[in-house]
Amino acid sequence: MTPQGPVLDMARRFMGHPADEPFSAADKKELIQSQFVAVFSPGMTAAAGPWGVSFAANITPDDTGIGAWTEAQFIKAIREGKSKGMEGTRPILPPMPWPSYKNMTDEDLKALFAYLKTIKPINNTVPKPQSL
Ligand code: HEM
Repeated sequence: MTPQGPVLDMARRFMGHPADEPFSAADKKELIQSQFVAVFSPGMTAAAGPWGVSFAANITPDDTGIGAWTEAQFIKAIREGKSKGMEGTRPILPPMPWPSYKNMTDEDLKALFAYLKTIKPINNTVPKPQSL
């Protein structure tokens, strides 16, 4: 975050919310229920809203990201909003815009997945979502 607003941190892009950056639900509930629709962390990788607190996923090709995912899992995650793109998992939380992205063509989703497989893997275990 800069005085002009957020700028991209290219060295850490796609790694999701940094494991060592605390963002707790504890002090957010009152803000969400009184003044704000949602509250973002300074790095904009964590968000608290009516759904609780969610953390941007690591979508680099590391084992802590989507390194072990199949293309079919990726497509299912985006099309159906299923965490890990697997049956029986929890829904993917806001603000991940999968309800819009699900309209992408198979070709585009496959291209996205192929691209993500080419970027630098970053080891980063993103925190689990929290309830408010
Ligand atoms: C083309 C762009 C994007 C792709 C390919 C993408 C991909 C993904 C995937 C595959 C997941 C699920 C990871 C898992 O199940 O472990 C995910 C989760 C997430 N994404 Fe995205 N994403 C994109 C853009 C965005 C944007 C624009 C935002 C926020 C404004 C966002 C926020 C999140 C959050 C918060 C999660 C975690 C949700 C949860 O824990 O349930 N993503 N993303």
